[in-house]
Amino acid sequence: MSITKEAELIGMKKASEAVAYTLKEMKNYAQSGMTTKQLDTYGAAILSDLGAKSAPFLTYRFPGCTCISVNNEFCHGIPSVSKILKEGDLVNIDVSAELNGFWSDNGSSFVLGEDINRHNNLIDASKQILHKAIYHIKGGIRISDIGHLIETEAKKRGFKVIKNLTGHGIGRSLHEEPSEIANYRDRLNLTRFKKNSVVAIETFISTTSTHVVRLKDGWTMVGNKGGFMAQHEHTIVVTDGKPIVLTEINEIWN
Ligand code: CO
Ligand code: CO
Repeated sequence: MSITKEAELIGMKKASEAVAYTLKEMKNYAQSGMTTKQLDTYGAAILSDLGAKSAPFLTYRFPGCTCISVNNEFCHGIPSVSKILKEGDLVNIDVSAELNGFWSDNGSSFVLGEDINRHNNLIDASKQILHKAIYHIKGGIRISDIGHLIETEAKKRGFKVIKNLTGHGIGRSLHEEPSEIANYRDRLNLTRFKKNSVVAIETFISTTSTHVVRLKDGWTMVGNKGGFMAQHEHTIVVTDGKPIVLTEINEIWN
């Protein structure tokens, strides 16, 4: 969406605070021995208290409130009573929701407890690259140039990017124009970021895979060449200068 009046900015801020707060609280709550369903139920209660509704459920009838993906699962993992979190797991939580007609999206990868499997390099790369990408975005910048920046930064650190997952426009629904904000230079995409538009920017930084493939459960995405992936996501408003990071209180950069 494009922000045209103060009330729309306030609406987007409220929806964004709801998803950002929920993500932060879920990360704090996550513990080894807990099932991903328990973690999702905890997040669902927070969203509900705030008056927000799960975006993946509303949009796709996703079988959960939030997406929780563990280790070899890259994204869209289904919260499950049989999936038990353990020390050192690479966990990704993605929280998106609708509040009073406004939609916001954010996500974060993190290690549960001690980093015994050494995922922190990958996670730090994803966080830092998201920061760099977001602060390069302003009205008039080509979407493909941000994709190029993300891929270049990933390569510099010895990582790859996933080519068939993208950031996206957002605001009045979960996915809007521009529909594909890729993590590489898509030469066919001549679109530029527009001032006042709301977009979800997300990194998909991986150790070995370049694409994701869907599992037979119909949702969970894993890497075409295995390995691990880290994702961080913020919903932002594009301006002439520094973007407004609507989901900043998720504290993924702290
Ligand atoms: Co998301
Ligand atoms: Co998104």
